[in-house]
Formats: sequence, structure tokens, C-alpha cells
Amino acid sequence: MAEAAMSGLRAINVSKSFSGLQALLKVSLTVPVGTIWGLIGPNGSGKTTLLNVISGVLPCDKGEIWLGDTNITGLRSDRIARLGIARTFQTIRLFTHLTVAENVEAGVMAVETGGIDDRVTALLDRFDLTQWRSTQAGALPYGIQRRLEIARALGTRPKILLLDEPAAGLNETESEELLAMIHDVRDDAEYGCGMLIIDHDLRLIMRLCDQIHVLNEGRTIAEGAPQDVRQHPAVIEAYLGHQEQSLL
Ligand SMILES: Nc1ncnc2c1ncn2[C@@H]1O[C@H](COP(=O)(O)OP(=O)(O)OP(=O)(O)O)[C@@H](O)[C@H]1O
Ligand SMILES: [Mg+2]
Repeated sequence: MAEAAMSGLRAINVSKSFSGLQALLKVSLTVPVGTIWGLIGPNGSGKTTLLNVISGVLPCDKGEIWLGDTNITGLRSDRIARLGIARTFQTIRLFTHLTVAENVEAGVMAVETGGIDDRVTALLDRFDLTQWRSTQAGALPYGIQRRLEIARALGTRPKILLLDEPAAGLNETESEELLAMIHDVRDDAEYGCGMLIIDHDLRLIMRLCDQIHVLNEGRTIAEGAPQDVRQHPAVIEAYLGHQEQSLL
């Protein structure tokens, strides 16, 4: 476990404010390669901001981010992606006018210069996207778009994959498929990585994740195994008055 943690992601005392609003305050989190972490909390608690800071979309004010033994604090997002952190977005961001294959190619090309076609074909096959290969991404059913976004992110062969509400907008069947896919990815010989997943569907998060980190108003209020987090008084209190409460 110690060795796995070394090759994973560490955020140490990360703080970020937006013109006086403290979006994150001294948040620390470790995601070892090969584990699935859930990141939950009420709306506006800082979840997406933490992913933005880790992936270099936003600089943090204080704190450090490490990937294995590399300090990635303050690096540009494209450099961080090449070092091994991939992500998806709360609102799907695909190249909607490009085909499914071209979208996956964009991920692969970010890190590799040769053998690209073969890798694209293998990725499409691995994630059941071959039948959609020549379809424009914007014309795909929504659930397939979510799957494509993850496949494209995995094209960069990340050590850590950050998923911002991957199940948002999916129906129950699609959510179940996504859950199975994410478990498969964790255990995959080629694409296995550590994952940090935000979602408001707490039942899904509780089933999916090995460990859960809970934010409220930019601060960590609990961290641990799903069964412990769901019973944590601070978590129950944070969710009081929110619609997710009934799911705890
Ligand atoms: N770029 C930004 N500029 C100014 N304020 C921001 C910015 N990004 C986030 N915030 C603010 O920071 C706080 C945390 O937002 P964030 O998007 O991280 O929350 P979240 O936990 O992802 O919420 P949700 O569950 O609704 O997606 C919110 O008050 C938000 O309005
Ligand atoms: Mg968010």
C-alpha cells in the first residue's frame, strides 16, 4: 500500500479562494494507484475546484500537489496530463464535430507519436465503442458520450483519472454500465489507475468507491470507508436540508 501511495496522487493542504470566497481550505487527499476514491459534498463545497487545481486548470493559493515523487504544483494542465493525470468534466467536453475515433485519437496523440491508429482501435474495442467509430461525437446517445469521454481520457494512459460527475444525466441502466466500466478500469492490466470520482448519486458512490472524502464549504469533514462515512455525524449534518440526505 505504501508503495502504491507513492505512485499515486497527493494533495497536501491545498487552499484556493475566489475574491474572498474560500472555495478550498487546507484540503489534503491521497489517491493510490489501483484505488477508487469518491469525492462528495453539497453543491458549492469545492469538489470541482479541487479537480481543477489538481489538473492544473486553476492554480492553488497554497499547498502542494504531487504525482508519485513529482511535485506538479503550478504546472500547466497539458504538462500535468502528459505526466499522468487525466480528467473528464462536469459538463461533457467532447469534440462534437469529430468522430468517435478522432476523439479517442486526440487523447492518444497527447502522449504518443507512433502506433496511434492501432491504439485507437484497441481502445475503441476495449470500451465497446467500435460500432460508433465513424459517428460524430455530438450525435451519440448521452450515455455513450460519457463512455467516450472516459475512453479518450484513458488514451493518455493516466496514472490518475479524475471524473467530475460521470453519472450525471444517465439513467439507471447507463449508471450501472458506467459503474461496471469504472471497476473494470481499476483492475485492467493496461489501463488500471487510481480514480477520484465526484458524484451526487450517493448510492452509486457508496457502491463504487474504496474510500470516500467529504467536503463541506471547502473543508474536509470526513474521510474513510463508505460504511464509516455514511454514519459520520458531520456528514449527516452537512447533508441535512439537501436532497441527497435521504440517500445517506
Ligand atoms: N472560477 C471560479 N470563479 C469564482 N468562483 C468560483 C469559480 N469556481 C468555483 N467557484 C465558487 O467556488 C465554490 C465551490 O465551487 P465548486 O464548483 O468547486 O463546487 P462543487 O462542490 O463542484 O459544486 P457542485 O456540486 O454544484 O458542482 C462555489 O461557491 C463556486 O461558486
Ligand atoms: Mg462541481
